[in-house]
Amino acid sequence: MNETRHWVLDALADGPVSGPALADELDISRSAVWKHVEALRDEGFEIRSDDAGYVLDSVPEFGASAVEYGLDAPFSVEYHDSIPSTNARARDLAGEGTSNVVVLADEQTGGRGRLDRDWHSPSGGVWLSVLFRPDVPMAHAPVFTLAAAVAVTRAAREAGVEAGIKWPNDVLVRHGDTERKLVGILTEMEGEADRVSWVVVGIGVNANVDPADLPDEANPTSLSAERGEPVDRRLFTQRLLEEFHALRQDPESVLDAWREYATTLGKQVRVETPSRTVEGEAVDIQFPGALVIETESGTEIVSAGDCEHLRPLAE
Ligand code: BTN
Repeated sequence: MNETRHWVLDALADGPVSGPALADELDISRSAVWKHVEALRDEGFEIRSDDAGYVLDSVPEFGASAVEYGLDAPFSVEYHDSIPSTNARARDLAGEGTSNVVVLADEQTGGRGRLDRDWHSPSGGVWLSVLFRPDVPMAHAPVFTLAAAVAVTRAAREAGVEAGIKWPNDVLVRHGDTERKLVGILTEMEGEADRVSWVVVGIGVNANVDPADLPDEANPTSLSAERGEPVDRRLFTQRLLEEFHALRQDPESVLDAWREYATTLGKQVRVETPSRTVEGEAVDIQFPGALVIETESGTEIVSAGDCEHLRPLAE
């Protein structure tokens, strides 16, 4: 959203304000005020004009301005009703030098998952990618994936869904002795060894989606299925982005937060890494995101791989 339009919205949020007062406050012409108000109406904001001036009656359900409005984090949002992949778009924006942008979509037609899998992304989800440029070495970047898992878990819990995190970054909901996948996270980055140039954290949340419309293999669930009613995607996305912003500023705090929601710690696991299979009890996590496993032959530390929780699921 352009900066002046942001100010117009902020002023409207504070109560009725007349066109001339707004023009004075923002040092723009009255017709410029009117154009901004019209543009906001086009985006779905209901703005009434009465004797006291402009009154903001309602905010659109979802979209760029809807998410930016009242967002307590320094991201601008680029919204698409439909796009092949928000990660691919964010990578293009990275090439243009952009930062602190969130690409958000209602539907993806070519969503990408880990290990080059497809990621099904029908309309009703929260499919987003955060592009930013942290001042850290490449080796530290995995911590941002954990931060995203924590952020989305907190937002899901605030929405009433008891989500937990399976190492490294699957956000799941427990159903009896199985776990259903609610969220997937795919992080991509570029840089030199000593410094990251950009990071794209792609987060796919099955929000208001029927799990029956998602592939079975993932054993999927969704926020709406868990809640029994749709979630407010605007508020959910805002909370997710606010939590993510707070965590990315304080990477040291991420691990403790992750441990709080981890369902993997204390469980028997099997981790398939590109070079070996490690089986044992997952006992801890190490910065920037490696799993510590006690095996029969000693302690093993794995930094990447596919993790399976072995039965029985410990309480
Ligand atoms: C996984 O395999 O678990 C990761 C899935 C990541 C999906 C998200 S949806 C938003 C972003 N855009 C993509 O194409 N992928 C990620």
